[in-house]
Amino acid sequence: MLKDNYNWQVTGIELWAWYQSVVGEAAAAGIVRREVDWLLQAVSDIDRLSLQLGDVSRRDRVFLDRPWSEILDLWQQRLVQRQPMQYLVGSTPWRDFDLQVSEAVLIPRPETELLIDLAIDRFPNASGNWLDLGTGSGAIALGLARAFPKVQVHGVDFSAEALVVARSNAERHGLSDRIQFYQGSWWQPIGHLEGQCQAMISNPPYIPTATVLGLAPEVVNHEPHLALDGGVDGLRDIRVLVNDAPDFLVPGGWWAIEMMAGQGSSVVELLKKRGAYRDIQIVDDWAGFDRFVVATRV
Ligand SMILES: C[S@@+](CC[C@H](N)C(=O)[O-])C[C@H]1O[C@@H](n2cnc3c(N)ncnc32)[C@H](O)[C@@H]1O
Repeated sequence: MLKDNYNWQVTGIELWAWYQSVVGEAAAAGIVRREVDWLLQAVSDIDRLSLQLGDVSRRDRVFLDRPWSEILDLWQQRLVQRQPMQYLVGSTPWRDFDLQVSEAVLIPRPETELLIDLAIDRFPNASGNWLDLGTGSGAIALGLARAFPKVQVHGVDFSAEALVVARSNAERHGLSDRIQFYQGSWWQPIGHLEGQCQAMISNPPYIPTATVLGLAPEVVNHEPHLALDGGVDGLRDIRVLVNDAPDFLVPGGWWAIEMMAGQGSSVVELLKKRGAYRDIQIVDDWAGFDRFVVATRV
C-alpha cells in the first residue's frame, strides 16, 4: 500500500540495476544481502519477495520516501563508514517489537531476547517491581512489560540520550504507563525501591577496555562506548550489580544478567563471595556459550 510520504520515485529498471551491482559489492565487503533488502524495504514500497524474484525490474516506478540520491548515500555510509544498517534505517526488530535506535543506544542483540524467555519460564505469573538496569533502547524493559501485565518495570540508564530513545519506544508500543525510566548510575536513582524489588535484570557493559578497540568497526566506531566498556577486566559494572542487588531485592528475588562468553565462572565466584545468593546458575545462549548468570536472593 502506498504511504503518504512516498513523494519520490525511481524506475524499476534503474533500481534493479543498482540492486544487482550492490549485492556483489556487499558480499565483497562481508555485508549480507539481507541488509540491502532491508534498506530498500525501509525506504520504498517494495517487499522482499519482489526483490528476491526480480519482479521489481518490471515495474515502471518504485515509490520512495526520500530522494534516490539520499538512498545511494545511505548505502555508501553502510559500505564505507561501516555504519550499522539499524542506525541508518533508525530501527531494529527485537522480539515482537520494532524498536527505534540511534547512535545513543546499543543495537539490541538477538541473544538478549533470551533473558525475557528465562524470566517467562521461571515466573509465568510475575508481579511487583522489576528492574532493567542499563536499559539503553528500553528493549528489556519493554519485553518484560509486555510479558508480565502485573509487573511495574523500572528502567535505569546513565545516558540521558538513551532514555529519550527508551521513552519513545515505550510510548510507541503503548507501554509507557507500565515502565518508569530514571537517569543515573545503577542503583543511585532508585533508592526509593530499596527492599521492594522482585527481580533485577541487566545487560551491563561487560567488554574489557582493551578488547573494545579491537571490535568490528560497526561496533567500535558507532555504538556508544558507555554501553560496551566494562573496565579493565570487563566485570566493573557486574560487581556493582552483585554487591548492591541484595539491598534492593526481596528475599527470593531474582537476579539475572547477560555477560560476555567466558565470564561465567568469575561471575559465579563474585555471587558466592557476596554470600547473599542461592541457586546460582550459568545459562548458555543458542550458540552454546555461557552468556547469562541467574541467582536468587536468599
Ligand atoms: C550493553 S548496553 C544494554 C542496553 C540494553 N539493555 C540492551 O540490552 O540492548 C548497557 C547499557 O548500560 C548503560 N550504562 C552504562 N553505565 C551505566 C551506569 N553507570 N549506570 C546506568 N547505566 C549504565 C549504557 O548506557 C547502556 O545503555
